[in-house]
Amino acid sequence: MRAIFRYSFNFIQQKSPTFISGEMNAYWYSIPWAFKSRLNKVKASGGCHRFSEEIYRAELDKFWAQIRQGAFDKRQIESAYKTLLLKGVRLMDVATELSNEERLNRFMERINAGEKIEANDWMPDDYRMALIKLISMHGMSEIMGALPEKEWVPKAPSLRRKLGIMAKVQDEMGHGQLLLRVAEDLMAPFGKGREDMMNDLLNGDLKFHNVFHMEAPTWADAGLVGWLVDGAAIITQTNMLGASYGPYARALQRICAEEVFHAQHGESIILALAEGSEEQRAMIQDAINRWWPSLLMFFGPASAATTGSSKQDITIKYKIRTKTNEQLRQDFLSKYIPRVRSLGLTLPDDTLRFDEDKQEWTYQQPDWSEFKKIISNKGPKSESRLHLRRTAFKEHEWVRRALG
Ligand SMILES: [Fe+2]
Ligand SMILES: [Fe+2]
Repeated sequence: MRAIFRYSFNFIQQKSPTFISGEMNAYWYSIPWAFKSRLNKVKASGGCHRFSEEIYRAELDKFWAQIRQGAFDKRQIESAYKTLLLKGVRLMDVATELSNEERLNRFMERINAGEKIEANDWMPDDYRMALIKLISMHGMSEIMGALPEKEWVPKAPSLRRKLGIMAKVQDEMGHGQLLLRVAEDLMAPFGKGREDMMNDLLNGDLKFHNVFHMEAPTWADAGLVGWLVDGAAIITQTNMLGASYGPYARALQRICAEEVFHAQHGESIILALAEGSEEQRAMIQDAINRWWPSLLMFFGPASAATTGSSKQDITIKYKIRTKTNEQLRQDFLSKYIPRVRSLGLTLPDDTLRFDEDKQEWTYQQPDWSEFKKIISNKGPKSESRLHLRRTAFKEHEWVRRALG
């Protein structure tokens, strides 16, 4: 108790420069987090908790007053506010003195009760890291996924199709923006943001989805991407609509609604071609043959043993999703195999059949070593699409600077 009082006393008395320069130093008080371990050895009381809360609220009030007085320039406000929120959360943690095990138990109770975890809530490190990896990869895949279809905007066969595919490309970029915002909040404690994620993508440290490394050489490919790739995305993303992490679950509400339009747009292209000439039907069949292994790979390996790593266990444990990769792949096969066959088209796998006893599809496994190669940016279009993204990022630097 005495230690906590000393800590709080230091907090009030000690004025020192902090993360923000200039005028802010005149008002700002640093929080000596180095004392945290010492504090963990003493028992907190409800009184300490209230006291810490009052300090935090006073800091927040002061911060808003400073904004109103114009104490910061526009660029400083966002980072200062985020840091203050994080400090507040950490201050509460110290004051309530929960051990890591107690925090984890409370966290699991919350997600098991269906509560949503928010950006500034306490969360286990492996949960945060799994979310960062999943959401940053999802966000970048939306952005990189717009590129194969963007290539078809000038070549779409009619004005109506051109407008349709342009709207889809625009939606995908919007999904990317939305998701990178969600990932950015999770990365704030590491002092990283969207620009770092983009640099990681361009350096090859952040992966994007296997399907977006592939070629889309014909109009049937453009249709198939909408029909089956967006169709596969709907299956994986609707599985996360109830995700325990609130900001991701809410972003997915909007994304999934738009993905349904994308799948309908693709289906419409495929149906028009299927009703067309022999040449057009042959074009769809070629596209299906080309895309089939990538579509099977889309859901990831059945287990970590296949490729050496898999995040499915941790995402299921923390209720970010409910189904395994294989269950999602089976859902996709059940939904789309009858549809493809109903158009008189075939799938390039002689072993493909539904096993009535096991109530599942048996199919020829794709080449998982090829999958690893593709997601390591060694796919047919990896380098050219990254080059395009790199060029855009460089050429638009002045816009980010002007708006920053
Ligand atoms: Fe999307
Ligand atoms: Fe989409």
